[in-house]
Amino acid sequence: MTALTRLRLKNFRNYETVSLDLDGRHVCLYGANGAGKTNLLEAVSQLGPGRGLRSATLAELTRHNAETGWTVSATLDDRKIGVGLETDGASSKRIVRIDGAPAQASDLAELVRIVWLTPAMDSVFRGGASDRRRFFDRQVMAHIPSHGPAAARYERAMRERNTLLERGHVDPAWADAIETRMAEAGAELAINRATVLESLQSAVDARPDGYFPKGDLTLDGASEQAAAAGEDFKSIFENLLEAYRSGRRRDMAAGRALNGPHRTDLAVIHRPTGMPAGDASTGQQKALLIGLILASAKALTLSGEGPAPILLLDEAAAHLDADRRAALFDELCDLGGQAWLTGTEKFLFEAFGERAQRFAVSDGALDTPTA
Ligand SMILES: Nc1ncnc2c1ncn2[C@@H]1O[C@H](COP(=O)(O)OP(=O)(O)OP(=O)(O)O)[C@@H](O)[C@H]1O
Ligand SMILES: [Mg+2]
Repeated sequence: MTALTRLRLKNFRNYETVSLDLDGRHVCLYGANGAGKTNLLEAVSQLGPGRGLRSATLAELTRHNAETGWTVSATLDDRKIGVGLETDGASSKRIVRIDGAPAQASDLAELVRIVWLTPAMDSVFRGGASDRRRFFDRQVMAHIPSHGPAAARYERAMRERNTLLERGHVDPAWADAIETRMAEAGAELAINRATVLESLQSAVDARPDGYFPKGDLTLDGASEQAAAAGEDFKSIFENLLEAYRSGRRRDMAAGRALNGPHRTDLAVIHRPTGMPAGDASTGQQKALLIGLILASAKALTLSGEGPAPILLLDEAAAHLDADRRAALFDELCDLGGQAWLTGTEKFLFEAFGERAQRFAVSDGALDTPTA
């Protein structure tokens, strides 16, 4: 099983220093509200690409009143990995270390893959397209680490184009250059998304039927649909470029780009009822979301590329009845990667039995494992 066997935090959120020795089983964290359970999951999430499970800035993660920046270091299958914020007077920067040596975030992304579920995601089916797109892009990033940088390139080019269009008269050569970069990054995003959607749907179908229902997924963007239909990069790129070019006047009037993969929505159908997930009940949505996250982790395992994912489940057990909790734990044990779960009460994790290690969290400290 892919597992963290040691985790150390320094000056991270409400932890001054904490060192956790793990035996490779799943990890359950329990404790009162405000104790620091989510902070620990957030610390683990920093080992993956992106900003972690609260999308926090690096500075927000530093413990209030700390003298230096934060670090999170861990042992993962005998590799020593670490990330942190190094502060040096007024400047600070993110640092990555692998086996003691400075490394790139992209190197780390090859070693560790992380999928998470948080209470903040509960509204993903009811919210706007941007919430679902972000949720889906997060899954894509776990599969394809270069997806994050491609999204950043796309955003940058789009902002430049917006600024240019705002000025009113546009230098066509300049606009062409920006739109070319937008279409290049956009085609890459669309292909990544279509690729991951397909493996995610296969993993959904491969999951057991039962408490966490299956969903049928589609992306409504023209570029993603073209990619799913087998169109190649060049063709998707050219169509996007043409759409940006011919849409300039309209986009100028709107003050933003009306077309492109930054508008794509993820549609999810709750398979048991055939209804759009947005119309499902709160409980159905929650169960569907758990199923999707399990499928996302399973897709990473099935891909056979890279290690099995670490799964972070914040407060996922609290709203489930005993049978559903037991079913969740059984499914987690089949995934091949270590799961980290939080809850306010220890009894929530009873059905794990000997398959998990438990830690009591209180006020930024952890007690020794109790079972
Ligand atoms: N940068 C920081 N420095 C110090 N403390 C912080 C920082 N950021 C957050 N905290 C504190 O960390 C505490 C624990 O937060 P956390 O979200 O981990 O709690 P939790 O155990 O998950 O609680 P809940 O059960 O309510 O979800 C909070 O009281 C919060 O104010
Ligand atoms: Mg919490």
